[in-house]
Amino acid sequence: MKSNLCLSSIILFSLLSLASSQRRYVVPNRYFINCGSNSDIIFTSKHFVGDDSPSTFSVSGSHKAVQNNSSPTSIYQTARVFTRKTSYNLEADDKNTFVMVRLHFSPFSTNEFELHNKIINVQVFGFSLLSNYKVENKIVIKDFIVPIGNDKKFRLDFTPSTGSYAFVNAIEAFTTPNDLFIDGKDGTPHVSPKGPNGNMHNISTSYAFNPIYRINVGGRTINPERDPLRRSWTPDETFLFSNVSAKSESQHDMRPNYDSKGAASYDAPVDVYSTARRLTDKAVNITWNFRVNKNSVFLIRAHFCDFMSPGRFSTNDAFSLFIYSLYKKDIQLGQIVNSPQVPFYVDFVVDSGEFDNVSISIGAIRGNDQTVFLNGLEIMELLTNLGVVGLRTDGKKNEKKVHIVIGCVVGGMVLILILGFLIGSKYRKSKPLVEAKTESNMVSPYGRSLSISIDFTKNHSSPIPNLNLNLKFQLADILQATNNFDEKLMIGKGGFGKVYKGTLYDGMIVAVKRGEKGHGQGQPEFVTEIMVLSKIRHRHLVSLIGYCDEKSEMILVYEFMKKGTLQDHLYDTNENLPKLSWTQRLEICISASRGLDYLHTGAGIIHRDVKSTNILLDENYVAKVADFGISRLNSEEDNDVSGIKGSFGYLDPEYITCMEVTQKIDVYSFGVVLLEVLCARRALDNRLPYEEANLADWATTRIRNGEVENILDPFLAGKINPNSLTKFLEIVERCLKPTGDERPSMNSVLYDLLYTMELQQTMANREPHEDSTMNTSFQLSMIKIDRLPSHTNDDSEVNESSDSSFPTESQVFSQLKMNEAR
Ligand SMILES: *[C@@H]1O[C@H](CO)[C@@H](O)[C@H](O)[C@H]1NC(C)=O
Ligand SMILES: *[C@@H]1O[C@H](CO)[C@@H](O)[C@H](O)[C@H]1NC(C)=O
Ligand SMILES: *[C@@H]1O[C@H](CO)[C@@H](O)[C@H](O)[C@H]1NC(C)=O
Ligand SMILES: *[C@@H]1O[C@H](CO)[C@@H](O)[C@H](O)[C@H]1NC(C)=O
Ligand SMILES: *[C@@H]1O[C@H](CO)[C@@H](O)[C@H](O)[C@H]1NC(C)=O
Repeated sequence: MKSNLCLSSIILFSLLSLASSQRRYVVPNRYFINCGSNSDIIFTSKHFVGDDSPSTFSVSGSHKAVQNNSSPTSIYQTARVFTRKTSYNLEADDKNTFVMVRLHFSPFSTNEFELHNKIINVQVFGFSLLSNYKVENKIVIKDFIVPIGNDKKFRLDFTPSTGSYAFVNAIEAFTTPNDLFIDGKDGTPHVSPKGPNGNMHNISTSYAFNPIYRINVGGRTINPERDPLRRSWTPDETFLFSNVSAKSESQHDMRPNYDSKGAASYDAPVDVYSTARRLTDKAVNITWNFRVNKNSVFLIRAHFCDFMSPGRFSTNDAFSLFIYSLYKKDIQLGQIVNSPQVPFYVDFVVDSGEFDNVSISIGAIRGNDQTVFLNGLEIMELLTNLGVVGLRTDGKKNEKKVHIVIGCVVGGMVLILILGFLIGSKYRKSKPLVEAKTESNMVSPYGRSLSISIDFTKNHSSPIPNLNLNLKFQLADILQATNNFDEKLMIGKGGFGKVYKGTLYDGMIVAVKRGEKGHGQGQPEFVTEIMVLSKIRHRHLVSLIGYCDEKSEMILVYEFMKKGTLQDHLYDTNENLPKLSWTQRLEICISASRGLDYLHTGAGIIHRDVKSTNILLDENYVAKVADFGISRLNSEEDNDVSGIKGSFGYLDPEYITCMEVTQKIDVYSFGVVLLEVLCARRALDNRLPYEEANLADWATTRIRNGEVENILDPFLAGKINPNSLTKFLEIVERCLKPTGDERPSMNSVLYDLLYTMELQQTMANREPHEDSTMNTSFQLSMIKIDRLPSHTNDDSEVNESSDSSFPTESQVFSQLKMNEAR
């Protein structure tokens, strides 16, 4: 911390916004080693190289390759046996960071060697990772996090016990983000069974970390492939003292709102932050008990993400965390992060002393309404160094990095941040940190501190303004997620370019939409989409996960919607897709109308391109509205006279003539979607005779003539409650009214659809075999055909025809002309 300077908060925040993209991490490609083999292998989606004649590292000592094909996992069919001390000579990707070391042991026997029950010692620098460790008859994977100092080179030493031999089947040793562990300004609170015991300093540089427990509290087992750092996590049930009053909670589609004051995406998988245990009875505590060694020292990291509380935290929102019974720490959510869904963690150093257990409890503070919860726990034994000194030199200047501390008063809080200017490094890293705290007894860093680095080798100027940097992805991450835009992962193609299925480093499955330059949807749409979607979030609107505009790419990353578009399930489907029942279709319409209602009333946004291909279905057929590329704020001036936007077949006839953009445009288009759902045909099908091509026209004429049975999806015949159908047709009729003023609001459409569902279910209750008996003509006789107009108006009368329920023929024809002009 050499130079201090003060910048205005404006500059500070423009720098802060750069930080988010730095807090992403992809596991590097080295080292993944297939020991005792001369061939490379893909295992857990990593490329493991054989260590017979390695080119990227060396093995020195006394060793031998052995093989036994009895294991079904090919990487475990070979091993390297060490008859004396043997070293793997490796190099980290960066200085002053950490390396994750994962060792795989799967004992077998050969004619020469018997690998069961072997005693193994492993050292890195002076850290003894395994010391007289006995590998019994099963597969064991041990992981460790080891600090790397000023010297990037490191050695993994395997030492057998005297007169015996040791072995290993596979080695992973990869560089992690450098801020996995951060020393708070005042150190980390030190706790013993007797209570608080001061603070511990320089933890990140003095110890290696040996995880004993990684617990996904309230959740399930998480495999290494779903963790950004290849860690595994286990459920908490067996450690829970009592599960009465400890309800497990989860928010399946939770998207953590990563914040510079909280954890980074690699600190724990989303699966940890989207499940929790919540205290249901404030008169008691929830307690977990873990068996540990006596006289050991641990780093305990408690992970939190409040996805249960609505709204923002107030400054007093807090609950208590206890370690043993004499240490209490108030988790002051309101002061650590401002809003729910922001993941963060709190660290403690715990000394087990004479105890062979550690107990951790959470409980309410009297009079405080804050939800009491815990998402994850890591208990890592601290391994002391046996003699190697000068590991990490904090804040040291070198030729590549300059750390600048900027002290700045923001909102009454003192933020100290260190900028690491990092040039030409493969992984942009910097030293921490921002201390966003004032009270002296708030000790450990609350989760992530801010780290910023600016890469001078790259040109950061981007044609797109930095709209929302929390959402900004690096191109390298996108390439990794989509396997370099592998055609095999392509799930869609349209005017804008291609859509790929991708997997982010944290295991999240996403849809990656890559805009094609000079093709279809252009930059304004790209920007609109980001602006709209980063502002709103709703269960029935597709979430934007991020975007990337590096190298003039226009890439949008969305939540992956497993079941595709609504259209896929209605017509032109591949034979394997099951047909949707009427109830399912209603459910989808209801969800979509909820999304649109929120857009209109909650966000003041007009979608302008509502259609069945923009309604997507997740794995549970929950519908979400997508594609906001041409949407508009209600308040925006209509200076867009460049032409009609929207999709033919769905266009509001009033809009075509008046060019006025109102919410009722969406209502009209939604009416067409409702007809698609009912009739299972395209909104516009130019293969059909002229008068049948436009669905809204064709269907309304048929309905008017009392021929509903001729337009109904044959699959639905006899399965719709007549009252439900009548109500549904009434909604369609109102949505498709010729003028916007006559059409209902999206909110009223939503309530009418709910009523339609109720009518359908009333029948289902009475008639368990809803799919079998009803007769279509009987149902149709109940439709109030007399409400439909029996004559057509000409253009001049359109605006006065408040009684007419459906667009007139001339209107429909004018729309058809539009359609043909396509
Ligand atoms: C391979 O290992 C298994 C399990 O240790 C053992 O039962 C078997 O005999 C071994 N095969 C050979 C050829 O040594
Ligand atoms: C922490 O490490 C720094 C440099 O490595 C040293 O100057 C400082 O004294 C250490 N702090 C404590 C409390 O040991
Ligand atoms: C508590 O645990 C028992 C046994 O594991 C389980 O059957 C029960 O459902 C759990 N109760 C709650 C509220 O989680
Ligand atoms: C929770 O546990 C702590 C520490 O053992 C204890 O002091 C406190 O009274 C407990 N609270 C409740 C409500 O049981
Ligand atoms: C933890 O260990 C201490 C000392 O051995 C013992 O008194 C206590 O009962 C243990 N607690 C639990 C919950 O096992």
